[in-house]
Amino acid sequence: MTGLAPANTLTPVKLLNLDHVAIAVHDLDAAIDGYRKRYNVEPIYREKVESQGVEEAMIPVGGSFIQLLEPLGGETPVGVFLSKRGEGLHHVAYTVVSIEAALDHLAATGARIIDTAPRVGGRGARIAFVHPGDLAGTLIELVEPADA
Ligand code: CO
Repeated sequence: MTGLAPANTLTPVKLLNLDHVAIAVHDLDAAIDGYRKRYNVEPIYREKVESQGVEEAMIPVGGSFIQLLEPLGGETPVGVFLSKRGEGLHHVAYTVVSIEAALDHLAATGARIIDTAPRVGGRGARIAFVHPGDLAGTLIELVEPADA
C-alpha cells in the first residue's frame, strides 16, 4: 500500500479485540453462580444500565469478558428476547478505536445499523449496535472504551 489514497476514501475501520460475548439470562445471581461453580470464574464488575434495561455482570476471560445480562423488565429488549428465544447468546461486542469512524464506515458500506449515533453503555464506554440481519445473523455491538 502506498499512502496515496484519495481524500474521500472511506476511513479504514478494523475490529481490535473481542470485548465481550453477551448471554441473556433470567437470573443474574444464578448465572454468576453457575459460571463460578462450573468454570471457576468470577465477575469483576456488575452494573444496572437503565438506558439498556439490563443489569450486567462482566466476567473476565483472557483479554475479553463474558457479559451476563438480566433484563430489568419484560418489555425491555433483553426481556423480549428472553420471552421469544429463551436464555442464550445475545450479542458479540468488538472494540474499535473510534465509534464515529466505525459508524461512518458502516453507513457508507450499506450496513443495517441500529444506533446511528453512539450511546453510553456499561463502564462509561461509547457503544452502538448493528442489526443481526446485516451479517451472519449476529447482533454486533461496537465498543469504544472510556479509557481508550
Ligand atoms: Co454488550
